[in-house]
Amino acid sequence: MEQFSISQEDAVQKMLQKLTTLWRTRAAVNQDIPVYAELAFDASKRDFSESLLPFRDHDAWLQAPEAIKSACLSYAWGIYNLKTIYIECDVVTPACEDIIKTPPSSNNRALLQDVMSEALLDEALHTRMSVMACNYIYDHRQLVPLDFTDFNLVQWRRQQLASCGAEWERRLTRFAIACASETLITDYLKTMAEDTSIQPICHEVTRTHAVDEWSHSSVFSFSAMDIIRSLSEKEREYFRRTVRKTVEMFANNELGAWQAAFNLIGMPHGEDILHDTGDSNEVGVYTDSVERLIDRIGLSGAASTLSLPSHTPAAGRHGKGMTL
Ligand SMILES: [Fe+2]
Ligand SMILES: [Fe+2]
Repeated sequence: MEQFSISQEDAVQKMLQKLTTLWRTRAAVNQDIPVYAELAFDASKRDFSESLLPFRDHDAWLQAPEAIKSACLSYAWGIYNLKTIYIECDVVTPACEDIIKTPPSSNNRALLQDVMSEALLDEALHTRMSVMACNYIYDHRQLVPLDFTDFNLVQWRRQQLASCGAEWERRLTRFAIACASETLITDYLKTMAEDTSIQPICHEVTRTHAVDEWSHSSVFSFSAMDIIRSLSEKEREYFRRTVRKTVEMFANNELGAWQAAFNLIGMPHGEDILHDTGDSNEVGVYTDSVERLIDRIGLSGAASTLSLPSHTPAAGRHGKGMTL
């Protein structure tokens, strides 16, 4: 077991070093980001992929006037980005800060601080990109900006932390929810990142974000490999359970946000849509990714493989894995 741990620690070290090298050339924060306010706006294009709407097959949606549908898709962009901002600020940032401020005792201590401080910079830029891209759409469409704070993912995380009885549990909860989120966000961004039919800024912002998040899923999974080595069986089980529970909340339809948007739009039969849609989205889309994460970090009982995940925006979700 000790032999396995030492070789695993070395392998993780190599991967984290390669990720930090890649970050210097690939991360959006190290590139020139366009001034979004100056990008051309195409009023005829939709601001969001209709296939992602949880009520896309509902009769009331299918029969809604075009102007109402257009406003709904603009608010879908608003909700999507606001949820992204909450994930960046309230879910991922605190976990990065935990590792930066009090890194785990590991030979990879400084490297873990390096990759987490890089991720923290990335998330700050993603937050800024989301803010700018939301306001760009609200301005061009002349829509009242949506204010909403009660995302189910964030509320559930708060409840989980409040129910923890010890600091180790709180810290592990923050890390497990962030690890799962950093794996799931690539799937969350994928459709919009690949949809070239939508408003150019919406596609471009999501594509840029997706490229960074592909690296983050590796940063968090390799960091998890390092961190879980020193955990007890009880702590490992707690970590695995929390990662799996995060999937459901991540896929949540966030109908509270939709209720607020429908109120602003005056959506015909909005209450019926909310009632018939329900909370759970296509959890299956996310379950596979999180099970791969559990496998990769060696918590499933199966042998873990030290390669980067294959679902890059460019390679496609089932493309060939890229081994560093
Ligand atoms: Fe991000
Ligand atoms: Fe991230």
